[in-house]
Amino acid sequence: MALNYDGVKSLYDNYVIGNYGRIPVAIARGEGSYVWDTEGRKYLDFITGLAVNGLGHCHPRVVEAIRRQAGELLHIHNNFIWEQQGRLAEALSKQTTGMGQAKVFFCNSGTESTEAGIKIARLWGKQHGGKSRILSLENSFHGRTYAALSATGQTVYQKGLDPLVPGFDYVPLNDITALEKAFDERTAALICEPVQGEGGVFLCDPRFLEAARRLCDKHQ
Ligand SMILES: Cc1ncc(COP(=O)(O)O)c(C=O)c1O
Repeated sequence: MALNYDGVKSLYDNYVIGNYGRIPVAIARGEGSYVWDTEGRKYLDFITGLAVNGLGHCHPRVVEAIRRQAGELLHIHNNFIWEQQGRLAEALSKQTTGMGQAKVFFCNSGTESTEAGIKIARLWGKQHGGKSRILSLENSFHGRTYAALSATGQTVYQKGLDPLVPGFDYVPLNDITALEKAFDERTAALICEPVQGEGGVFLCDPRFLEAARRLCDKHQ
């Protein structure tokens, strides 16, 4: 029999590390914009999935695609290639503008994509005069693994976890003068959210982004 709230809570108390603050509701199922808890109460879900999962709950086409693929092939080692991964890369590349023919690196989370971006920037920097410093913005968020956490411009996430990965400098959002000062011959990359999310909702001024583009081009 399915557990009620107290049953689920006791599993979490006993077996799940308490690193997230939790709302005292155990969700049992979802449909469209609604979810139901273990006591059968219905809620309108204003989030319906974080980030790339903002798809609503159990859309029939999403469910059908997952069912079909699960019956064909669930996992294959990266030593092989397969059509679906190639097709997804093509679809993502075609959505990406301003980069020529963009290529895709597949990973499991935002923090891993940040790690990969930092690694690519430093590999490139080593071949271009030994550049390794990464510029980031104050109040930014780039993930919880070590390099991504080091790129994150908020001490609240870093507290107690030092030493962090070296080589990161932080610039105030929309301060073009500070950005110009921070760029030098050691700069390998700038990492920047056009809209800061976790840090609040703060937008990059288009002029700041234009200056960032210009400085990146200048220091290539
Ligand atoms: C800009 C940005 N980068 C990275 C991450 C980390 O993503 P994930 O939680 O999938 O590791 C987040 C998550 O909120 C994010 O907002």
